[in-house]
Amino acid sequence: MEQPEEQLNKKNNVCSSKAGFKFFMPNAPQIQIAIDGPAAAGKSTVAALTAEQLGGCYINTGNMYRALTWAALQRNIDPENEAGKVAAMLAELDLKFSLNQDRLPILALNDEELPLRVIRHPEVADKVSFIARIPEVREWLVNRQRETAQFGLIVMEGRDVGTVIFPDTKHKFYITAEPEVRARRRLAQAGEVPDQSTIESVAAEIARRDELDQTRPVAPLRPAPDAEIIHTDNLNAEQVAELIARRVQETEKNL
Ligand code: DC
Repeated sequence: MEQPEEQLNKKNNVCSSKAGFKFFMPNAPQIQIAIDGPAAAGKSTVAALTAEQLGGCYINTGNMYRALTWAALQRNIDPENEAGKVAAMLAELDLKFSLNQDRLPILALNDEELPLRVIRHPEVADKVSFIARIPEVREWLVNRQRETAQFGLIVMEGRDVGTVIFPDTKHKFYITAEPEVRARRRLAQAGEVPDQSTIESVAAEIARRDELDQTRPVAPLRPAPDAEIIHTDNLNAEQVAELIARRVQETEKNL
């Protein structure tokens, strides 16, 4: 007789759960749930909760851009003005998600796990949108992002998941909120904004990032035409995750 957890994991063909991944199913159906949206809309929290509810892997693609930004800054390359050097740097790098011993996805650069406090540092945040505008960087990353489909059910968040990375998935969501609401959410995330930040300064920084993300020629931030747009101003992260999980379960009847 199987234990309840085993049943749960087998049923969901999962690669993670609250208790950590236990029973990875090599033949798990590959289902991609795309969550896109502007900066500080709450994508990370929502995507992680959705993955937990559905028993899937949470993949944060913004952290891949941040990892490359960190690598550039380490080499004294300015992502804003030295796109050629950034593109050349890629040949030295290996960046990928893999499953750790608990089979939870971790991001490793040249086989070293990158701590979140490093890649979410304000200095990295300041330059990351410039990295994300470089076509060679996006092309280099998209294959690595698609590789994560092998984990089974993935909940991937970013800016172009539904438009570029997995344009054929049936599960596309675009979550957004008013700029002031987003600024408050970002301010509440310790370590992500410079000391002395105010709602106004954070809102200005978010507006600058949105502008850069929306106006870049390659894979600009925009909802996929078939994405469900969710305005989260009056919803908390749990409510948004429940809504997304319900939609996915309505479409995938056997989840
Ligand atoms: O989600 P985030 O704030 O960690 O994203 C960091 C930057 O990377 C942001 O400027 C947008 C960019 N990005 C992107 O262009 N495409 C993605 N799929 C994810 C992030």
